Amino acid sequence: MARVLTGIQSSGRPHLGNILGAIIPAIELSRNPQNESFFFIADLHSLTTLKDGAERQNFVQAIAATWLAFGFDYEQNTFWRQSRIQEHTELAWYLNCFTPFPMLANATSFKEKSEKLSDVNAGLFTYPVLQAADILLYNAHIIPVGKDQKQHLEMTKDIGSRFNQLAGSDLFVLPEPQIDDRIMTIPGIDGQKMSKSYHNYIDIFQPENELKKITKKIVSDSTPLDEPKDPDSDITFKLFSLLASESDVATMRENYLKGGYGYGHAKQALFECMLEKFAEPRRIFNYYMENTAELEHILTQGEIKARAIAQQTISKVRQVLGFGS
Ligand code: TYM
Repeated sequence: MARVLTGIQSSGRPHLGNILGAIIPAIELSRNPQNESFFFIADLHSLTTLKDGAERQNFVQAIAATWLAFGFDYEQNTFWRQSRIQEHTELAWYLNCFTPFPMLANATSFKEKSEKLSDVNAGLFTYPVLQAADILLYNAHIIPVGKDQKQHLEMTKDIGSRFNQLAGSDLFVLPEPQIDDRIMTIPGIDGQKMSKSYHNYIDIFQPENELKKITKKIVSDSTPLDEPKDPDSDITFKLFSLLASESDVATMRENYLKGGYGYGHAKQALFECMLEKFAEPRRIFNYYMENTAELEHILTQGEIKARAIAQQTISKVRQVLGFGS
């Protein structure tokens, strides 16, 4: 049996990048009977950027509702909120002491965030160590993530193997990322990586009129309506090709190349495609957002399963480090 594990930060409502880059591929893996899956909401990580507790609570629920909306079987698997399992933070401290300073100082995501954010706190700096703790605590084998997480996964392996080496144990399983090459980095409406922090994301659970508005804002070049357009450099086409059927994508490609087809037409097609493709997830998402007590109950049940494994690992780690068990 392989253990599959992944997490989403509760720093905003999940966007199309999270859904295509992490949630859908993870749920596909979880349907393989050879796998047992551990999916959690990384609410401690969200504290690095989001300080408002009420907002965090709301985002935690939105992320939980999204996993359920896309059909995650929480009864067969393990589904929980990171902050409720204290072993995540305890292990993160131990691992901090096995993490070389330059490894964190050279992390691309830290450099990028520290250039963009005004609040460059120590939590942002040690973010990858908490992520390593999330993974190593459950002895996970496969970590489905978007391409932007590749370096964090390399750091996890590095930290885990340093611990194993220095502490003279083979306690931690060293995980492998699983990155779907077709998906890579989903572009936002401005063409940069879609991200909560760049405010360029598409929230597929918005009311229809809002979804339409944001789709219209996708950046395009100024090629006039009549002229042929290059599908491969266009953001709307790229998003459409990730969602629509092969034949619909081929038709849109032809329309771009022959001219007389405007970006407005393509955006309308993308909007309709999202509404159709996500009709059922939108319905389930809204149901859970109106029945949050049900969500809380599901997460609390998941905690019990997660805690049992986390406690076993932490007790072994304490023993190895001479803290008792
Ligand atoms: P977060 O919330 O930033 O991203 C969650 C997942 O969504 C993927 N993703 C994307 N994929 C494709 N295109 C995009 N534009 C895009 N934006 C986001 C991310 O790659 C990620 O898989 N650090 C993690 C949270 C985490 C975690 C973990 C993940 C904490 N502990 C342990 C795996 C294992 C993160 O970036 O979350």
